[in-house]
Amino acid sequence: MDLKLNDKNVLVTGSTSGIGKAIAAAYLKEGATVYINGRDQARCDATANELASQFNAQGKVKTAVADLADSAATDALVAQLTAAGGIDILINNTGIFEVKAFEQISDDEWMHYFNVNILSAVRLSRALLPTMLEKDYGRIVNISSECAIKPLGQMVHYSVTKTALLSLSRALSELTKGKNVTVNSVLPGPTWTEGVENYFDSLATKEGKPAQDLIDSYFAEHEPTSLLQRFVTVEEVAESTVYLTSNRAMNGQSLRVEGGIIRAL
Ligand SMILES: NC(=O)c1ccc[n+]([C@@H]2O[C@H](COP(=O)([O-])OP(=O)(O)OC[C@H]3O[C@@H](n4cnc5c(N)ncnc54)[C@H](OP(=O)(O)O)[C@@H]3O)[C@@H](O)[C@H]2O)c1
Repeated sequence: MDLKLNDKNVLVTGSTSGIGKAIAAAYLKEGATVYINGRDQARCDATANELASQFNAQGKVKTAVADLADSAATDALVAQLTAAGGIDILINNTGIFEVKAFEQISDDEWMHYFNVNILSAVRLSRALLPTMLEKDYGRIVNISSECAIKPLGQMVHYSVTKTALLSLSRALSELTKGKNVTVNSVLPGPTWTEGVENYFDSLATKEGKPAQDLIDSYFAEHEPTSLLQRFVTVEEVAESTVYLTSNRAMNGQSLRVEGGIIRAL
């Protein structure tokens, strides 16, 4: 299927690793021009070079370095992208998560989670949506999580931010009526990334158990309703995200890529 993304400029935030990097790769496969974002120029360069040689896409992978928790840095990034031709597809993927007891999460941490997980998406959408509406083409996807609708007691702050992203997406989609512009959410389930691997490694050290045993028992113990009974792959999330931006009829939606954990119709 030709998804007609060949002439599109795509910004994938938080794309130096994990899901974001896989989404960047998936858009490159479709022939789009992709901006790699993270906080560090060297890390962005390394990712851009790796993807360019992997997909023989020299000239189609660019970098867009900025700490998206910083509003001035985000403004500077938007100015840079606008001067370079603008963004047609914005994937707000940047997100942080940590297992932490609710009573130990301070106000400062709550504000930091709101800043990184929600305001990064708000700032970029606010800056880029008006031009998308004006030129009558644009796609925005907010990478939420299955915990947006199945909030987790061990990550209350994270869950709250992911629920807020669903509301942000739907509210912004209300501004696109009659336009070839869409705003949607993707809800990945537990997805195998470097961050998740590190989490299991540190849990293994803490509990004095082999990491593989914890991984093998994870779905039976913690996600018994999963129909997949394994971690989602970053490629599965990436392919779903690209598909969601392929046509205008999919708008204001929340696409669950969580292996059937959520028992809902
Ligand atoms: N992994 C899962 O199981 C899972 C499940 C559901 C939803 N999700 C969501 O999917 C998204 C990606 O998760 P992931 O596991 O792939 O994450 P990850 O591997 O930890 O990658 C996070 C990315 O965000 C970047 N980043 C962090 N803070 C940033 C900031 N202030 N400004 C710019 N970039 C920043 C990092 O880049 P630098 O470090 O290079 O700056 C990195 O590229 C997140 O929104 C997460 O909530 C993940």
